[in-house]
Amino acid sequence: MKKIIVTIDGPAGSGKGRIAKYISKKWGLYHLDSGILYRRLAEVLNNKNIDLKNIDKVKKIIKKHKNLSFRKNKNLRSEKISNIASKIAVFQYVRKYINKLQNDFVIQNIDKKGFVIDGRDIGSVVFKNADLKLYIDVDVKIRAKRRYKQLIDIGEKSIYRQILKDIRLRDKLDKNRKNSPLVIPKGAYVIKNESSLLNTYNKINKLIEKIQYGK
Ligand code: C5P
Repeated sequence: MKKIIVTIDGPAGSGKGRIAKYISKKWGLYHLDSGILYRRLAEVLNNKNIDLKNIDKVKKIIKKHKNLSFRKNKNLRSEKISNIASKIAVFQYVRKYINKLQNDFVIQNIDKKGFVIDGRDIGSVVFKNADLKLYIDVDVKIRAKRRYKQLIDIGEKSIYRQILKDIRLRDKLDKNRKNSPLVIPKGAYVIKNESSLLNTYNKINKLIEKIQYGK
C-alpha cells in the first residue's frame, strides 16, 4: 500500500473528524486532527486565564510549549474551548506554530505510515501537495442539529438556537480571516455529507482505490 497523505477540510460540524477516523481505519492511515492542537492551546490559555488580546502573553505561552498533545479529551470539545480555539486561530503566529507541529510529526512518521489529516487549511496551506484533497460540505442548520446532539450526548446543557448562532459565527471567523481562511483547496473534491454517511464513505473509498490501485 502506498503511504499517501489525504487532507480533509470543511466547516465546523461537517463530520470531517468522523470521516477521517473511518478512512484511517479502513486504509491504515494515521489520523491527525489539527483542530485538537488549536483546542489544546485554547485550553492552556484558558487555564492560565490569559487575555487573548494580549499578544505578548500568548506568544510567551507558545514559546514555553515546544509541543502540544494530539490526545483528545471531552473538555476540549466544550463550547468555551471551541470559541477560544477559533479566536486564536486567526493569528498568523499561532497558525505558524501549529503548522510546524503538524509538519514535524508527519515528516518523522511518513516512512512508517500514510496520513489522513483534517482541519480548515490542510489541503490549501499545510499539505498542498497531498495525494488526495477533500472538502466536506454540509448546510449550516444540519451541522447545528448534529452539534446540539453531540453536546447533549456529552452532558453539556445547550440551546439549539445558540448553537446555530455559534456555528455561524465560527464559520464567519474561519472563512473571513486574513490568515489561511477556510476555502475549497485547489484540486480538492467537494463531498456533500448531508444524506447517508455510507454514501460519503463509498465516494471517498473510490477516490482512494484509484490512487492505490489505479482503477
Ligand atoms: O476542527 P475543530 O472544530 O476541532 O477546530 C477548532 C478550531 O480550530 C476551529 O474553529 C478553527 O477555527 C480552528 N482550526 C483552524 N485550522 C485548522 C483546524 C482548526 O483554524 N486546520
